[in-house]
Amino acid sequence: MATTVSTPQTDTRFFGHPRGLATLFFTEMWERFSYYGMRAILILFMTAPASSGGLGFSVATAGVIYGLYTSMVYLMSVPGGWLADRVLGQRRAVLYGGIGIVIGQFCLGVPGVASFYVGLIVLVLGTGLLKPNISTIVGKLYAEGDVRRDAGFSVFYMGINIGATIAPLVVGYVGQRINWNLGFVLAGFGMVIGLIQYVLGKRYMGEAGLEPIRPETPEARARQSRLMWAGAGAFALLIGVPAMLQAAGLIHLTAAAVGDAGGVMLVAVSIGVFAWLLSSKGWTPVERKRILAMVALFVACALFFAAYEQAGSTLTLLADRSTDNHALGWAFPSSWYQSLSAVFVVALAPVFAILWIGLGKREPSIPVKFALGLLLVGLGFAVVGVGALRAASGIKISPMWLVVTYFVHVCGELCLSPVGLSAFTKLAPAKVASLMMGVWFLGISAGEYIGGIFGSLYESFSPQSLFAIVAAFSIGAGVIMGLLVKPLKRLMGGVN
Ligand code: PHE
Repeated sequence: MATTVSTPQTDTRFFGHPRGLATLFFTEMWERFSYYGMRAILILFMTAPASSGGLGFSVATAGVIYGLYTSMVYLMSVPGGWLADRVLGQRRAVLYGGIGIVIGQFCLGVPGVASFYVGLIVLVLGTGLLKPNISTIVGKLYAEGDVRRDAGFSVFYMGINIGATIAPLVVGYVGQRINWNLGFVLAGFGMVIGLIQYVLGKRYMGEAGLEPIRPETPEARARQSRLMWAGAGAFALLIGVPAMLQAAGLIHLTAAAVGDAGGVMLVAVSIGVFAWLLSSKGWTPVERKRILAMVALFVACALFFAAYEQAGSTLTLLADRSTDNHALGWAFPSSWYQSLSAVFVVALAPVFAILWIGLGKREPSIPVKFALGLLLVGLGFAVVGVGALRAASGIKISPMWLVVTYFVHVCGELCLSPVGLSAFTKLAPAKVASLMMGVWFLGISAGEYIGGIFGSLYESFSPQSLFAIVAAFSIGAGVIMGLLVKPLKRLMGGVN
């Protein structure tokens, strides 16, 4: 029998890190394989004609669904994190979430529109349970003050991106060349491997994430369980009532209407959270200023991801329709470009880490990094806009247009994304620390949603005009962010 390590904190068996990190690394690698594999073919599957096994949706519809799906995945990580903290414990949340993901992908494996929608909903719930909580367990493998923690997260981040690199190659190939539904099943199998590995490796994780924080008094317990059931009930009603009315033929739901409802909800929640935070009385002046700074970072985050996350929508449509997808004489599937982001992240993350360290005192502050992120993502769209212009005459453009665009986008991501979450945790008043982590995810979610709207417009404008608009928006936002650097630094009161 293998030895049981009850304290992963003292364990150095995985490249100097606790062996449990390997378990979480591979679980998340396979989960991201599943997520990004599915996303690689999602828009192509929705827009492919029924005669070739697709859903035959218009781009206008498919873009909205892409945006709504990706946006809800990140939104659900907020209740997913809460549920794990208070009720399930992270370990069980990851297990249940993973099972949900498998079921969701297998639903997508069944041809037809109904199984497609059911699959998307189950995937949203499963990913919401797994994604935030697996990172929390990583943090818990290390004792407080353990210097290895940051490096542990970097190793974990590599797992994410290795999964995201392989996924489009495998799932994209099978989905586009053999059968769409089989592609989704394959994405589900990835998660199955991840789960088997997770269950077999549980002994290496010791107590990390096993137990939730239970409310201390019976009243608190009752309040919490009321809150949970009210939330679950509201969610069930929100999905169940329209679905039943639709099934009974009493209403006719369109993707656009559901998308609009999602958008209104996201705007309402975002404004609601900040209005509540800013109107609460209990803050010190420093805390209040920091909350104001977070409003700006929130908007910047949403705008950044609105552009960046078009990797799987408009950029994939361009790759599919207007790019000459040949390498060494072989025609490769258009979904393969989606590997590039992850490849560049793996290659460039260490470069950026060294760059920031090398700059020492001159390392750009958080608002400067946000401005850079926006400028770079805008620049990427300017590049691909020129590419799209060249393709307008009907010629197929060189893959290099997309390669350069993804490269520039990843440079932007590496400026903004790693500092964003940590900025939010540092700026948040202690009382609402986990809430503000959720607000960061809300920002990503809002971005995914706006990105979906851009995606749905791919055929309404010419691609080159659409890309020019996205470029102008992002660069404009980057310039505004640049102008706000000084006031923001003042508001952030020492956090930088
Ligand atoms: N690619 C990373 C991941 O999948 C980071 C990321 C998260 C990027 C959310 C965009 C949106 O975890």
